[in-house]
Amino acid sequence: MTDRLRIALTKGRLQKKSMDLFTRAGLDCEPLENPGRRLIHSLPNYPLDAVLAKAPDVITYVEHGVCDLGIVGKDTILEKGGSFYEVLDLGFGACRFALAVPEGRDFYGSYKTRTIASKYPNVTRAFFEQKGMDVDIIKIEGSVELAPLLGLADGIVDIVETGATLAANGLIPIETVVRVSARLIVNTASMKLHKAEIADLIARCEREVRSAT
Ligand code: PRP
Repeated sequence: MTDRLRIALTKGRLQKKSMDLFTRAGLDCEPLENPGRRLIHSLPNYPLDAVLAKAPDVITYVEHGVCDLGIVGKDTILEKGGSFYEVLDLGFGACRFALAVPEGRDFYGSYKTRTIASKYPNVTRAFFEQKGMDVDIIKIEGSVELAPLLGLADGIVDIVETGATLAANGLIPIETVVRVSARLIVNTASMKLHKAEIADLIARCEREVRSAT
């Protein structure tokens, strides 16, 4: 057993912002600046090891307790679900899920069952269920914007940050499904076993999140 905490950070867009937050909170993130291919990094001035993982895997590692904490987007949390504490909205990584359709398409103007492509079938299903609307959902792994352009789907449910990808592909966002941002999550057992250490880390992050807003 180690008395160091372990946190899973989502690689990519959220990684740099997570490091910036930690740095402002007094944690030396130098080992994460140039991580190379190495996936676990110990912070030198705080008892924390950072694990770099894909978003859904952050949840898996935290749920199974091999990581005490994680930073992951609410988009992944909504899609994957799971059992853990979601303790803090970190504010960064803010974007939205939107329903988007080809420009000029009257999406609601037909009785035919619509086909929606998405990387997030569960979020998509919940959105249309709450509308009482029956749709066919096709799971796509990336560059979902292609599906309506190729004639596979009538629309997409996807993450929109700047809107540039939609615009570049002739798609118009017609409805916001839900707003999302990065969240700090904690394993339920770790929360009890490492109460004081986790409380310190949450408090440091919370202070910085508050001062940034
Ligand atoms: C995400 C999302 C959109 C794009 C939105 O894709 O799925 O395609 O970013 O960003 P924008 O509104 O700023 O243009 P990502 O880059 O993660 O790649 P992927 O589609 O291949 O998963």
